[in-house]
Amino acid sequence: MLSIGHRGARGHAPENTLASVRKAIALGADWIEVDVYWLDGELVVFHDQHLERTTNGKGLLMAQPFDQLRRLDAGNGEQIPTLAEVFATVAAGSERVGINVELKGLGTAEPVVRFLQAGPLRGEVWDLSRVVLSCFRWDELARVRAIAPRSASGLVLAELPPGGVGAAIVQAQAIGAWSLNPAQAIVTPALVQAAQAAGLQVWVFTVNEPGEIARLGRMGVDGLFSDYPERVAG
Ligand code: G3P
Ligand code: MG
Repeated sequence: MLSIGHRGARGHAPENTLASVRKAIALGADWIEVDVYWLDGELVVFHDQHLERTTNGKGLLMAQPFDQLRRLDAGNGEQIPTLAEVFATVAAGSERVGINVELKGLGTAEPVVRFLQAGPLRGEVWDLSRVVLSCFRWDELARVRAIAPRSASGLVLAELPPGGVGAAIVQAQAIGAWSLNPAQAIVTPALVQAAQAAGLQVWVFTVNEPGEIARLGRMGVDGLFSDYPERVAG
């Protein structure tokens, strides 16, 4: 079962910062998940729509110029990072760890795909099997599929659609998804079996409690997002 560090290693370091990414690598995560917005011509790694919970700033993330965001403290003196900095940090820290880019902001699919496609121009050669683009919104992943059909994508689900597990799988297949990423609360053996039978990986978020990690492992899920990636990797 793969260990996916949620927002880096959020249980140990300020979420979605380079310190958190480094910590997740050190703790043995197989993958690192970060959340991304497209803002002021930059891919900015951040979770909330508002600044207050995780920084010393105030107001809406999207209302701030990039330069202003970079002056904020995102915890322990860490800066809000760019996606390029996360990729460089993972590349420097491990040849093994993959990156799950969660498309959080609207209209993020195209700039993220452009960023990945420009990698070789920057002298970075990323094995695309180490990158997954995920999103709660089906239309954003449909956009990924349209412009970069070979990208691996993951449909994130907080709840099941009205048609249940079958409908969720149909939605995922319609955009050629590589994985279904359900919230822990909606995971059942039937969901896991049906998704895997349809050729989808099942990556469950966000699981921190050791008993739950063991239970989902027995259920046969493929990966777990955790704020404590060492609990899944260990
Ligand atoms: O992608 C899994 C998980 O990160 C989705 O929820 O709110 O933590 O981004 P959230
Ligand atoms: Mg996320």
